[in-house]
Amino acid sequence: MRILAIESSCDETAASVVENGKKILSNIVASQIDVHAEFGGVVPELAARHHLEAIGPVVRKALTEANVTLNEINLITATQGPGLMGALLCGFCFAKSLSFSTGIDFVAADHLEGHLLSPILMDPAPTFPYVALLASGGHTAIYWVTAPTEFEKMGQTLDDAVGEAYDKVSKAMGMGYPGGKMIDDLAHEGDASKINFPRTYLDKDKFNFSFSGIKTAVSRYLEMCSSIEAEKANICAGFQKAIIDVLVHKLLHAAKVKDCSTICVVGGVAANKGLRETLEKEKREMELFIPPLSLCGDNAAMIAVSAYWRYQRGERTFLAADTYSQQRHG
Ligand code: KG4
Ligand code: ZN
Repeated sequence: MRILAIESSCDETAASVVENGKKILSNIVASQIDVHAEFGGVVPELAARHHLEAIGPVVRKALTEANVTLNEINLITATQGPGLMGALLCGFCFAKSLSFSTGIDFVAADHLEGHLLSPILMDPAPTFPYVALLASGGHTAIYWVTAPTEFEKMGQTLDDAVGEAYDKVSKAMGMGYPGGKMIDDLAHEGDASKINFPRTYLDKDKFNFSFSGIKTAVSRYLEMCSSIEAEKANICAGFQKAIIDVLVHKLLHAAKVKDCSTICVVGGVAANKGLRETLEKEKREMELFIPPLSLCGDNAAMIAVSAYWRYQRGERTFLAADTYSQQRHG
């Protein structure tokens, strides 16, 4: 069964062809980073306009690279939400129109479900159940995933998402957008013990997060700093260590509470080298799955997995269906 999937929830226009919910035949991502970089964040209206320009060529490229025609596609899907409304509508309406004009079945997919199921595309892949830390620019949460269509949210951020904190700290330091990778790279040149930023655990036995405090702490530090340039690497290292300490503690504790030995990290922040290294060291006998970089950031292959399992359990989506901006899980 071949699925053509489209993802356009934020600033990446993506299309992918996936076979049997597992084998990636193509995975095309057209990033808009250059468009938004000068504004230090995603400008929703610009994102929508650029999706409109990119969507046709990106879908065509996904089919060409997969070496299939539309006749060989059995199901069309697109991200229904959560995300930016204008951006979502471009991909979602394109997919619905394609389904209408070709008669191919359509089922809507959920962006967070896609991230949570992205480890299924790995080889070897985790078996269910697993505990997953979902960390991206828009969301930070821990989920208990018992089956491809069953997700229990154990906790989530009460304010900023972790990727958002990275992006805002990067902006405050004049390092540009998106900040995650830049801070991650520079952190490896700094000494994390030089600056002790606060770790916000909230209730240490529970799974909610808060990242607005550390963002403010870094801003205050920058205001008092005589030379940001000289301390930049240490600030990045201190900031990153404080974030990683909290993420790792909560993920490992969640696995303990669920008595589960399989853990996954998904979403854009799963690309973080410091987080990967720390978890490798601290996971002990647990099995750790973090998808390759191409499947951490927004992509359409993970959307195909969400759709595959929804389709398997009999879901179909009416062409009158609309997009949604806020998360529906939990
Ligand atoms: O999943 P994603 O591509 O989009 C959303 O659904 O939000 O995640 C993007 C986020 C951005 O905030 C970016 O700064 C962050 O992921 N990110 C990272 C790294 N690479 C990307 N954060 C920390 N370390 C990284 N290496
Ligand atoms: Zn995402």
